[in-house]
Amino acid sequence: MRPTLDASPLAASLVQSTLTDPGTPSATTPATHAAAMPSVLFVDQSGQLGGAEFALLQLAGHCTARSEVVLLADGPFRARLEALGARVQVISDARVSGVMRQASMLNCLRVVPGLFRQVRAIAARARQFDVLFLNTQKALVLGALGKPLHRRPVIWYQHDILTREHFGRIQLSIVKWLVRLAVDHVVVNSQASARSLAALTGIDADSVPVIYNGIDARAFDRVDGRDVAALRARLGLPRDAWLAGLFGRLAPWKGQHVALDALARLPDVHLVLVGAPLFGEDAYAQRLHEQAAALGIADRVHFAGFQDDVPAWMKAMDVILHTSTEPEPFGRVIVEGMAAARPVIAAAAGGVTEIVRHRRNGWLVKPGDASALADAIGTLRADPELAAQLATQALSDARSEFSVERYLQRMTQAIRQAAR
Ligand code: UDP
Ligand code: GLC
Repeated sequence: MRPTLDASPLAASLVQSTLTDPGTPSATTPATHAAAMPSVLFVDQSGQLGGAEFALLQLAGHCTARSEVVLLADGPFRARLEALGARVQVISDARVSGVMRQASMLNCLRVVPGLFRQVRAIAARARQFDVLFLNTQKALVLGALGKPLHRRPVIWYQHDILTREHFGRIQLSIVKWLVRLAVDHVVVNSQASARSLAALTGIDADSVPVIYNGIDARAFDRVDGRDVAALRARLGLPRDAWLAGLFGRLAPWKGQHVALDALARLPDVHLVLVGAPLFGEDAYAQRLHEQAAALGIADRVHFAGFQDDVPAWMKAMDVILHTSTEPEPFGRVIVEGMAAARPVIAAAAGGVTEIVRHRRNGWLVKPGDASALADAIGTLRADPELAAQLATQALSDARSEFSVERYLQRMTQAIRQAAR
């Protein structure tokens, strides 16, 4: 990896020439922008809509004129990209899918032939572009292994905290060596992610540009949240109940079970779980239903499933919860709660503490502590003035520190530097 990326802000003129409305299809992108921007092949391992994919959706949707997206699995992400005018190619191999997170030696050997087919296919596409942008860990492995074939500058957007809490030993080792040998630039989604990269690879954490995800605050402004009762009725939610909302895929480390335990201590609060088990965690989803029944709170827990209209669902809530039990690398849902002008209670670990300042723009609790979470919910419920103050500051911080414009500016800068 080359040591440092220039992390200073772009000159105003460059910003002018590279930024258009996020999501604007290429047909309306100015020709100057198309000429100035290097061409990019983006690679992502998932067809599902997780946070890393939403981050790429904004970027690829912004760069449609001279880019293409390779997905290593098909799914709803593909249609979302195509709707923004992105060209998408799916290069999948059933045997390779699913092997990465807890890779064992035997599994790795079994998938070698399929893996090399994918490496060659990605390299063949990459040769047609100036830069190869890898958005997930499996994309990193396949794109970086093909470096001798494509010889293109490689940039990796690291969305994860690279520790044993989250990943297997072999996977971490593969990532470490590929970053050292075949990746030219890494950008990370938080300082917490940068620190984990530094601990794993020995790279100086301060030399790795932190590029926070951007959240489109306008999508939240467009929701008419003034008549919350009407909004709730439209979404099929109880009109008058005091609602806590927890957004995100159903997965053990996202800690929905902690929220259920907290709810059991709060007799008349309702909990809305928005999200689905995206990566095979159906057994956990089932356990959540059983836990709600066992705690006697099933009538106050609403499983909404995956929803596209997150801004409206967030505006329908009285408080937004974040309950991850492992350090969250960034946490888009937190910034979204802030952009919805709702008070956010978040688990204080990982990138979350770079977003939420306790009692200033939100409320931090110890991860996994249901009793502390219940107390925090109780406090904000009992003090609407405090809740409103936090929400006002949160909205202002979401707009100023986590804008899509800033995210795209920093990303396009990183891509340009990688192309040099
Ligand atoms: N999300 C969504 N619909 C849902 C639940 C979640 O669109 O029903 C989105 C959510 O708005 C956020 C993303 O999924 O943008 C989750 O990203 P985050 O960074 O919070 O967590 P990740 O799943 O990437 O770990
Ligand atoms: C990953 C992380 C999440 C982060 C997202 C976008 O999915 O788990 O914390 O917000 O990437 O960077």
